[in-house]
Amino acid sequence: PMTITLKTGDEVEGMRAAGRLASEVLDLLTPHVKPGVSTEQLDRLAHDHIVHVQGAVPAPLNYAPPGYIPYPKSICTSINHQVCHGIPNDRPLKNGDIVNIDVTVIKDGWHGDTSRMFIVGEGSIAAKRLCALTYEAMWKGIAKVRPGARLGDIGHAIQMFAEHQGFSIVREFCGHGIGTKFHEEPQVLHYGRPGTLEALVPGMVFTVEPMINAGRRDIREDRKGGQYDGWTIVTKDRSLSAQWEHTVLVTDTGYEVFTLS
Ligand code: MF3
Ligand code: CO
Ligand code: CO
Repeated sequence: PMTITLKTGDEVEGMRAAGRLASEVLDLLTPHVKPGVSTEQLDRLAHDHIVHVQGAVPAPLNYAPPGYIPYPKSICTSINHQVCHGIPNDRPLKNGDIVNIDVTVIKDGWHGDTSRMFIVGEGSIAAKRLCALTYEAMWKGIAKVRPGARLGDIGHAIQMFAEHQGFSIVREFCGHGIGTKFHEEPQVLHYGRPGTLEALVPGMVFTVEPMINAGRRDIREDRKGGQYDGWTIVTKDRSLSAQWEHTVLVTDTGYEVFTLS
């Protein structure tokens, strides 16, 4: 059975605080995302800030859902045709790369989850367009959030907007309820039909995090030389992929975003 936990009072305050911290990590990283920096350096900056300044826990580190090996780093960094769950490494970012940085912190037991796109140096027109359109798609979904709306309304808004401009929505990954657990019910699909699926109720907290490809929607594991790192997902056609993510509360009148900058 579907068990969606509703957050009230102090629980909402805990989620609000965790969301704010996650967003602050992205703010901290922003001036460092430039040509020559490695994603491992960004991971180290984020990790040290989360642990030593925020007194929080980086949720990805050693995260091991069923069927996965423990995630080895504190943030996810997904570059160009990488769709999600890219693992920070020692390769320097280069001019024109686009990179999604996904940060999840646990503070006092509560999770905050947010990601943004960064354009390294000077981006191509196509790269800038994909990042901007994906941002707008996320907000089209969030704008649907209010009591009585359905999860399908969110997915539909995102899908229509992206597909009408010739982009595709990744189907295999979705937004998720979030709270004392990283991934809770419900699943928040980024495609669908209006008026379908669960009705939204005040106190629900979930992420909206569309992954949008410039080419076809198909994805695969990032096997390099026959080796898979266990996490990194890429577009099958090697087209660029972008993602933005916020953690959102359903309020009595609409929504509150916990992960605003
Ligand atoms: N932060 C991702 C999400 O938005 C999940 C990353 S799982 C990890 O759901 F282990 F790769 F970090
Ligand atoms: Co998420
Ligand atoms: Co995330």
